Amino acid sequence: MTETVTRMPVTERLMTDRPVKLSCRNVWKVFGREAERFLQNRSTPPSADQIADAGLLAAVRDVSLDIHDGEIFIVMGLSGSGKSTLLRCLSRLIEPSAGSILLDGDDLLKADETRLIDIRRHKMGMVFQNFALLPHLTVLENVAFPLSVQNVGKAERLQRAMEVIDLVGLKGREQSYPRQLSGGQQQRVGIARSLAVNPELWFLDEPFSALDPLIRREMQSELLRLQNVLKKTMVFVTHDFDEAIRLADRIAIMKDGAVIQTGTPEELVTHPATEYVAEFTRDVQRAKVVSAASAMRPRSAGHFDSAVAADLKIQAVAAQVIGGGKPVAVTAADGSVIGELTPDAVLATLIGREAQR
Ligand SMILES: Nc1ncnc2c1ncn2[C@@H]1O[C@H](COP(=O)(O)OP(=O)(O)OP(=O)(O)O)[C@@H](O)[C@H]1O
Ligand SMILES: [Mg+2]
Repeated sequence: MTETVTRMPVTERLMTDRPVKLSCRNVWKVFGREAERFLQNRSTPPSADQIADAGLLAAVRDVSLDIHDGEIFIVMGLSGSGKSTLLRCLSRLIEPSAGSILLDGDDLLKADETRLIDIRRHKMGMVFQNFALLPHLTVLENVAFPLSVQNVGKAERLQRAMEVIDLVGLKGREQSYPRQLSGGQQQRVGIARSLAVNPELWFLDEPFSALDPLIRREMQSELLRLQNVLKKTMVFVTHDFDEAIRLADRIAIMKDGAVIQTGTPEELVTHPATEYVAEFTRDVQRAKVVSAASAMRPRSAGHFDSAVAADLKIQAVAAQVIGGGKPVAVTAADGSVIGELTPDAVLATLIGREAQR
């Protein structure tokens, strides 16, 4: 047996083993008159009908999540499903109607105004869906703005701003005003501005939605590259499932304010909890998300000519397995054989997308 591919790839990070950075329990955001009172003094959470009968709108319903240190956590869902509202609650830009939020184990909802400002300035970064740039400031001034709030000296401020402007591909446009930029360029200013403070916890609300597909892919790669270096904790909203599986360690799928399922891209594709989740994942190229471990069968051969690591995706091993024309060993991190992967199983995963139609 060859020893070529038994190493665990570095991309496969077991995030749930890491400490929890941000956690929320039973978070609600209900809009309407006396929403807090409506939620209080109940033995069971209100049903959708009860909320509607009270003339209220539950944008976020009973959401509990644990987001781990260094994780890219994606929130997905259709328009109006509550993604932006959840993000705003998690960063406490708006007050949840009920529930608790812990940041590094501290109760974020109990933090007073001074502490909250301190946390926002030093720990959190936010990229908004609608850019939220300051119209009377240039690109350079917009990006440097959060640093001036942090009392960083002028020379350092400008240097840092130039660095991140370069990073997002806007070098040469430092002196432009937001109105002179395209939507995609404005969004990149927003990204640069939030990166300038080097936040530990980064909230991004559809940051790439205004970009055209090529630049969008570039920015996704850039984000992954940054993440390999900076190892931030990110909560990232998108409604593009391809973007989600490219970036995510884990994905939470929202519908009508509730989180329906949380899991790795692979878990969502191979074990969708509901028809709604299945519908979201239907057009995904399965070979990109399904691992050798999911597609393997119990070992039958006594000897294998080659092996693949259990957590490699089918796309990455397809040529090897189909090219060899016979089952290959699937190996765990310690090199032990845990099953076998047949050319047929690889083909079935590769054509899975077409076969479903
Ligand atoms: N301030 C508000 N007052 C009343 N209703 C609100 C308010 N903010 C949001 N909503 C409602 O809450 C629901 C969730 O909105 P939210 O902006 O969180 O959705 P979203 O998933 O981010 O959608 P999109 O993908 O379009 O950005 C929507 O029905 C919206 O109309
Ligand atoms: Mg939104």
